[in-house]
Amino acid sequence: MNSNSRNKEQKYQRLLVQLEELFQKVDNPLSRMATICAVLHHKNPHFFWTGFYLISDDNELEVACYQGPLACMRLKKDTGVCWSGINSTQAVIVDDVHSFPGHIACNPLSKSEIVIPLRNGQKIVGVLDIDSDKLAAFDTTDAEMLTKIVNLVYEQ
Ligand code: SME
Repeated sequence: MNSNSRNKEQKYQRLLVQLEELFQKVDNPLSRMATICAVLHHKNPHFFWTGFYLISDDNELEVACYQGPLACMRLKKDTGVCWSGINSTQAVIVDDVHSFPGHIACNPLSKSEIVIPLRNGQKIVGVLDIDSDKLAAFDTTDAEMLTKIVNLVYEQ
């Protein structure tokens, strides 16, 4: 692991500890999601949009809490990067959104993206989606650490 990755991991580790402490006070998933968005977005200036989409009763993705500019309200089933994260049941990293077939562009400034499935127990109920205005902003360290953070939403 190079020093950039180590620094990145240590930074995420500090955010993880901060969130774990905050979540001792409240176990409401929505409060936790909102807090994750605020912490991640404001501690990472290259995060252009940071938010959650949740699977609706009619099986589309509906936007939930987020930080950043106005985003698409609904994402049609099996289209775009977010649905790809749900269907593959794992993190999806896109270095250049313009070369991802079916990418849904909510904002033209977005250049790269990461999606992390959100699980309530075994069931995937939505995703954390982060867009960057830089190309190739995300790597496996982001995927690994963001998964730990997202797993706090439904942790008892
Ligand atoms: N780009 C996403 C849509 C959500 S926005 O990035 C906020 C997608 O392709 O699913």
